[in-house]
Amino acid sequence: MAVATATEPKSPDRKHNIEAMRDAFYDRIAKHHMAPLWKVMSTLVPDEPVTRCAPAVWHFDDVKSLVMEAGGLITAEEAKRRVLILKNPALQGESRITNTLFAGIQMIMPGEVAPAHRHVSSAIRFVLDGQGAYTAVEGEKAFMSPGDFVITANWAPHDHGNPSDKPMLWLDVLDAPTVNFFETSFGEDFDEPVQATRRQDGDSLSFYGSGVLPDGTTAMNRTPVINYTYARTRPIIERMMQTGEIDKRHGARVHYANPITGGPVLPTMGAYLAMLPKGFRGEPYRSTDGTVFVCAEGQGSTTVDGQVLEWGPNDVFVVPPWKRYSHTAAKQSVLFSISDRPAQEALGIWREGK
Ligand SMILES: [Fe+2]
Repeated sequence: MAVATATEPKSPDRKHNIEAMRDAFYDRIAKHHMAPLWKVMSTLVPDEPVTRCAPAVWHFDDVKSLVMEAGGLITAEEAKRRVLILKNPALQGESRITNTLFAGIQMIMPGEVAPAHRHVSSAIRFVLDGQGAYTAVEGEKAFMSPGDFVITANWAPHDHGNPSDKPMLWLDVLDAPTVNFFETSFGEDFDEPVQATRRQDGDSLSFYGSGVLPDGTTAMNRTPVINYTYARTRPIIERMMQTGEIDKRHGARVHYANPITGGPVLPTMGAYLAMLPKGFRGEPYRSTDGTVFVCAEGQGSTTVDGQVLEWGPNDVFVVPPWKRYSHTAAKQSVLFSISDRPAQEALGIWREGK
């Protein structure tokens, strides 16, 4: 008589039987809100990062005409913020450009005010078009010009106004999806639409960003500078480029620093400005921080995972986490970029590679 051994193949019936028993078990434990880890292990702990995001580019010609159209449909006061969200095409239905970052294009018409409020989400603005609108943050009224990088940190009161005679557009990037992931979002409006200001335009950059510090300055986990002006930052990367300090992947690049600690400007988001010489052909790079780029000047393209994103002035594009990319520049170009790298570094999970 034949005796079954452990090495003998199991009969189809027996296999079918054990799978039926397992399925029945999974159904039973589901009623207790439990599930087998072994069914989801590869999703929960993949061998390398898996992103839900797709590479994408938003061309400024399209963006500007659509935002201007919104200007005829709703006032900044009605909307509180007249912003068109840049939604990652792979994340439809979600207000985010990467898994952790919100991005939108805000427009403020001449004479308008976007009323004062504050929220836990930190925000940055990168100015695209227009001249002379302001962001008031914590008592400083920062007048903005294209290329300026303006910061509204966690819980800082802020309002915007446009006393100029032209519309002003900027890119907003917020860490709202990160804050909401932790379910820690608070926000409030103020009774007065415009906050009282006690500082001159540029005070914080002058006080804290000049190689000296006012007596009594203490370190915080975010920068005290409200506006890193393009007029101050651009000549630095131009000088780096002229002296040959050009990274083979990123070009002549600086990161915006908290001048007291040298660390990132915010604990959740970090930003860079890079100049790419004409004809630059960047080496491939990837990192775990999905990154939003803006072309401040020039023309070129970025190849992401085989997909070519063409960009020109004020175009915005996004590179998903851990997707290999490389820049090329047909003209001398300036790229602004922002990501959640500081948050990842604080958690010890940031990585980069070729
Ligand atoms: Fe806000």
